[in-house]
Amino acid sequence: MESLPVIVESKLEMRKLSRYWKTKGNIIGFVPTMGYLHEGHLSLVRAARKRCDKLVVSIFVNPTQFGPREDLEKYPRDLDKDLALCARESVDVVFHPGESEMYPGGFQTYVTVQDISKPMCGVSRPTHFRGVATIVAKLFNMVEPHFAVFGEKDFQQLLVIRKMVEDLDMDIEIVPHPIVREPDGLAMSSRNVYLSAQERRQAVCLSQALTAAQDIFSKGERDAETIKAIARKNIQAMPLAKIDYVELRNASDLSMVDKIDCPCVLALAVFFEKARLIDNCILDPGSGRYNK
Ligand code: PAJ
Repeated sequence: MESLPVIVESKLEMRKLSRYWKTKGNIIGFVPTMGYLHEGHLSLVRAARKRCDKLVVSIFVNPTQFGPREDLEKYPRDLDKDLALCARESVDVVFHPGESEMYPGGFQTYVTVQDISKPMCGVSRPTHFRGVATIVAKLFNMVEPHFAVFGEKDFQQLLVIRKMVEDLDMDIEIVPHPIVREPDGLAMSSRNVYLSAQERRQAVCLSQALTAAQDIFSKGERDAETIKAIARKNIQAMPLAKIDYVELRNASDLSMVDKIDCPCVLALAVFFEKARLIDNCILDPGSGRYNK
């Protein structure tokens, strides 16, 4: 039987432990999460485990990244199961602070990464990335890791965090990790539990849309509108799917593109009643300039 990881709830204790580990020459890896862990999270944990001596996973459902009409209260939680999963992956510490530990009364400082936060998810979730950047900056200050792993599933989030680290001179390596999918192609997500059986069957349209787009791209199509139209058609074929956005943008800064002549991201957000699902793929014309 694996032993359970140490659970740390206090930010001061977390920092003390981390600094102690550093005096012993340990490399500290970090995987921030909102819990309800699935194989997507666990593949990040495994990737981090391979390259560090001490591994910290945080579990905190961050209220500042949810909009007023979003699913904060209903967001799925199962700490006991998460701890058992972390034990199986030999996580050293699960950092699980309470809300008042992270946002004590009088809290008023936020991190805003300007341009990259605005398009795509930033349109329907205007305060989301401010909440993400703020909590990740705070977690970085508490855990003080050498590196942190983020999934490419949340591609815009990955770019926001990268930009924050670069602009604020944080000495932390950001390690991207590929999207983990269900056998039928649906990207794993804690929010997939919101889907009814019928919605779950139709949700495969996101990854199918990406595959159809990749297909015409690999045959030489470079026109952004044409590629987006193919993706839209695949999603619209499912009666329960409602498109939030289908966007094709420069993969380094999310600027608009008409023709794909640099590595681009095709990103989707689709509503299925209660659930809003996102997915993406990179379309790289082979310039070798897309440097993860
Ligand atoms: P959460 O949605 O729990 O995701 C935690 C990490 O797991 C993120 O880096 C996310 O991109 C990654 N992830 C989730 N599903 C994945 C999948 N199918 N394949 C690969 N990686 C996947 O993202 C957040 O939490 C929060 O915004 C957080 C960064 C913790 C800040 O609160």
